[in-house]
Amino acid sequence: MITGKTKIIGIFGDPVEHTLSPSIHNEAFQYLGLNYCYVPFHVKKEYLKDAIFAIKALNIKGVNITVPHKEAVIKYLDEVSDEAKYIGAVNTILNNEETLKGFNTDAKGFVLSLKNEKILIKDKIFLVLGAGGAAKAIVYGILKEGGRVYIYNRTLAKAMAIKERFSNLGFIEVVSIIDKSVTEKVQTIVNATSLGLKKDDPMPLSPELLKSEHVYCDIVYPETHLMKEAEKIGCKVIGGTGMLLWQAVAAFEIWTGLQAPVEIMKKTLNKVLTK
Ligand SMILES: NC(=O)c1ccc[n+]([C@@H]2O[C@H](COP(=O)([O-])OP(=O)(O)OC[C@H]3O[C@@H](n4cnc5c(N)ncnc54)[C@H](OP(=O)(O)O)[C@@H]3O)[C@@H](O)[C@H]2O)c1
Repeated sequence: MITGKTKIIGIFGDPVEHTLSPSIHNEAFQYLGLNYCYVPFHVKKEYLKDAIFAIKALNIKGVNITVPHKEAVIKYLDEVSDEAKYIGAVNTILNNEETLKGFNTDAKGFVLSLKNEKILIKDKIFLVLGAGGAAKAIVYGILKEGGRVYIYNRTLAKAMAIKERFSNLGFIEVVSIIDKSVTEKVQTIVNATSLGLKKDDPMPLSPELLKSEHVYCDIVYPETHLMKEAEKIGCKVIGGTGMLLWQAVAAFEIWTGLQAPVEIMKKTLNKVLTK
């Protein structure tokens, strides 16, 4: 029940209607008996500064930041964690007595989604498709864990910029086309583009390039066309709900200082996905 003492957590994005985060977090708050409430806020680009100011003005405890604000938000914050600074994107803000601190839990979310499925990262070679905000966090996560990265993006310059940003963390190379010479040297392929979100999207990679030894990981959810093809080929397939779950777990712990009820959050996510 909402009372005078309820702490508000929100999500700022445009669009925001599709978000599953309110269901996951509200169920977790309720399970632990915490007087918190998570609400979506549709924030357009031109109001981002005002919306961030409102976190302090309205004593909102924390927010998630989603597309398209993850990079633009940084300039309005009082503090940014080293990791988020390095990645150049914030997806979680904590209001600690009127000091707004930004974090990035996407990198951790991606790494935990793989570890949870016993997928090794250290010394393994990855092909990352895409060079947007999510790809940046994913490349950072892989390199920090000792993996190596080939990156491909439709707009090559963005992949080059990611290489420049992270090359001191480990091996990262840009590829301008994806063919067998690339896919045969990698163990894991990650779709970090937004392809697969819409039913009629083309696949980000030809299924002919996949082999049963590959791990195919897609951060788009629910299940994409290429995930289904990869399953048919016999690849180990990891979907985007794992990353969604684990970034939420990390954010929950930042806001509450408590251990997140992972099983409840996972169950809720599965329930809302099958609706
Ligand atoms: N599972 C999770 O927890 C999680 C977390 C974060 C994001 N996501 C999902 O990941 C996706 C990417 O998010 P983002 O924040 O990185 O978005 P973003 O910054 O807008 O980047 C989009 C990426 O997709 C590429 N792309 C878009 N349309 C394309 C097309 N028609 N052909 C080829 N490439 C195309 C873009 O290439 P260009 O650079 O050439 O435009 C860019 O690399 C979204 O669907 C988002 O919902 C999932």
